[in-house]
Amino acid sequence: MNTHKSAWDEDYRRRGDLWGGAPAPLPDLPAGAAVLELGCGNGKTLAALTQQPWSVTAVDISPRAVSLARRRPGTAAANLVVADAACLPFRGEVFDAVFLVHVAGHLPETGRRNVASAVCRVLRPGGAAFFRAFSVEDMRAGKGVETEAQTFSRGNGIITHYFTETEVEELFAPLAPVSVRTRRWQMRIRGGDLPRAEIEAVFRKTG
Ligand SMILES: C[S@@+](CC[C@H](N)C(=O)[O-])C[C@H]1O[C@@H](n2cnc3c(N)ncnc32)[C@H](O)[C@@H]1O
Repeated sequence: MNTHKSAWDEDYRRRGDLWGGAPAPLPDLPAGAAVLELGCGNGKTLAALTQQPWSVTAVDISPRAVSLARRRPGTAAANLVVADAACLPFRGEVFDAVFLVHVAGHLPETGRRNVASAVCRVLRPGGAAFFRAFSVEDMRAGKGVETEAQTFSRGNGIITHYFTETEVEELFAPLAPVSVRTRRWQMRIRGGDLPRAEIEAVFRKTG
């Protein structure tokens, strides 16, 4: 098992369901849409995707995450696969939508580029990618050891990259940007308000 994969697996082994709370709002897609989630973790977003009349596939690099997602109520209809988002085991042009919710930032630069090309490859013409990841404005940017530009490791082998809007747009070219924006909010910690910020973007495969 490579270090990256084993770091995630170890985190799920120690802490179980890492991701809770409400999932981000979902877009309108037609009934029967073939949808792929990359980095589904313990199934927080996946459980919302499977409430929709869509055919849902999800992958995660961590076998433990996939087994937690499988056990989560409501996910039984999903096709769950242990796989690296940078090297997807699917034929080209088979998905109408791909969701990347806080996954691309956990790969090094080469991996992020490979994920973006894999997304381009598996999307049908007219299909869309829905991206979410932390911004350089987030309070955690700059914390830990910098392993690459704007990428930080906080000691457990897991890295987090913090994006700019321009960078996200460049990463997903040749997909056409539909919207790329920063969502900002405050997190209250020990009486102080700290800035949280994530980039949410939608891209469409036009040709
Ligand atoms: C922050 S969690 C995302 C949780 C999930 N998307 C959600 O909405 O709750 C990041 C997930 O990405 C997975 N991951 C990291 N690198 C990956 C890769 N190269 N391929 C697939 N999954 C990966 C991790 O195992 C972890 O479960």
